[in-house]
Amino acid sequence: MDYIKRFAEDVREGLSSEPKYLHSKYFYDEVGDNLFKQIMELEEYYLTECEAQIFKNNKDKILDCFSNDGKVFDLIEFGAGDGMKTKILLNHFVDNKVNFNYIPIDISKSVLTHLTKDLNSILPELVIKPICDDYFHALEELNKIDYNKKVILFLGSNIGNFRGDNAIPFLKHLRADMSSKDQLFIGFDLVKDPRVIMDAYNDNKGITSEFNLNLLDRINNELGGNFIRKNFSHYPSYNPITGETKSYLISLEHQTVWLKGLSQSFTFEKWEPIFTEISQKYSLRDINHLANHSGFRVEKNFFDNKSYFVDSLWHLL
Ligand code: TRP
Repeated sequence: MDYIKRFAEDVREGLSSEPKYLHSKYFYDEVGDNLFKQIMELEEYYLTECEAQIFKNNKDKILDCFSNDGKVFDLIEFGAGDGMKTKILLNHFVDNKVNFNYIPIDISKSVLTHLTKDLNSILPELVIKPICDDYFHALEELNKIDYNKKVILFLGSNIGNFRGDNAIPFLKHLRADMSSKDQLFIGFDLVKDPRVIMDAYNDNKGITSEFNLNLLDRINNELGGNFIRKNFSHYPSYNPITGETKSYLISLEHQTVWLKGLSQSFTFEKWEPIFTEISQKYSLRDINHLANHSGFRVEKNFFDNKSYFVDSLWHLL
């Protein structure tokens, strides 16, 4: 199915559900990418800075864990984005003349082109082999062409954006494509003062609100919608019992929105929410549980100074 049909179907399904939802993958059009970059630079959005600090403070130890006794290994990154944080590690590995291939995997061709160009210019010695495909298909193809040790990077808090219990099936699938010498290096945002978490999803410049509302603009632009953005309000919530941080768009009025591209209208009650994103926060116990229930063992955890975030290194169980 082509992209716009998929988008239309996902929106139809989400807005016809009870409660309503929209898929967070649609945040990231050009405007959304830009707004997310601004979020990452916000004082309140501690996640990016914490993970960068983990890499800066532990690059030798991380290299020790990844290194393959001088034998080549594949450093595979899922959803590399602009590679800002990964660059800290890549730089260090290249400086130490480590024998490895950097293999960023992304479904966006433009993201990969950008990243490759950028890395070629700042790290000309880096061997970079981008793959434009979905994660699992790319991994299966890689398994056919070489037997190198694989270290898979799944950074940021991407794992926290899986809805419901989907993280475990994802990890199990990943495990099935890995062998006993391979490792998974995965980022988790940890439970902490609920106020710190709330602020990260509700910055006082209103960028996060813009980012969430941009989803409605995108539907207007690409599916011929007539959402009035001032009739909706960004609302984040954090549940300290479950660790779920959820973002919603709340309808401020009883209103009906027409989507030309779907030839369908959708009615919103006053105060009705549209669920747009989950960003799960984890305790260390949750992380062990997730590893063990998907066939992994936690080998080592790397924390930032405040223990806000952890990059966890996993082996097969
Ligand atoms: N998925 C990211 C996260 O969980 C992006 C994000 C930041 C986000 N702020 C948001 C998604 C607000 C939706 C709403 O941290």
